[in-house]
Amino acid sequence: MEKTFLMIKPDGVQRGLIGEIISRFERKGLQLQAAKFMILSEELAEKHYEEHKGKSFYEPLLSFITSGPVFAMVWSGDNVIALTRALIGKTDAIDAAPGTIRSDFAVHTNFNLIHGSDSIQNAEREINLYFKPEELVAFEHTIQRWI
Ligand code: RTP
Ligand code: MG
Repeated sequence: MEKTFLMIKPDGVQRGLIGEIISRFERKGLQLQAAKFMILSEELAEKHYEEHKGKSFYEPLLSFITSGPVFAMVWSGDNVIALTRALIGKTDAIDAAPGTIRSDFAVHTNFNLIHGSDSIQNAEREINLYFKPEELVAFEHTIQRWI
């Protein structure tokens, strides 16, 4: 089954939205595989956002993402990457469709609450940055056949 890396950013943690956000993925019928509450090192943050190096928002993005704890997760499910990106909503809250996480809770692009991998390659790369293979919990999610 497809896997993705999702991470509630420091603003989501500070605003007490971990439970609210996770519940949306649970209700969708996706399967949690791993989770970690942590503060990103400068080095990990640079690796995570290496595709944005040199852009105007890169340095502020690194300061923001290392400014407090994040909640890093791996979720799986059929089409989990596209489905979670749809539930998260567009990068800028103004463009995010009503009912998405960013539309419901975010105001500014740089405080947009959650990260989600955007491709199978990036999901694999990001999962490996944050988790060792043995930290992914394999289990039978008995409800899957109803989803
Ligand atoms: P993410 O990677 O965090 O899931 O967000 P995304 O795919 O929707 O957006 P992406 O283009 O990958 O940008 C990564 C993060 O950088 C900040 N950003 N600021 N000021 C700006 O124009 C701007 N553009 C991007 C956002 O925090 C975005 O989530
Ligand atoms: Mg992105």
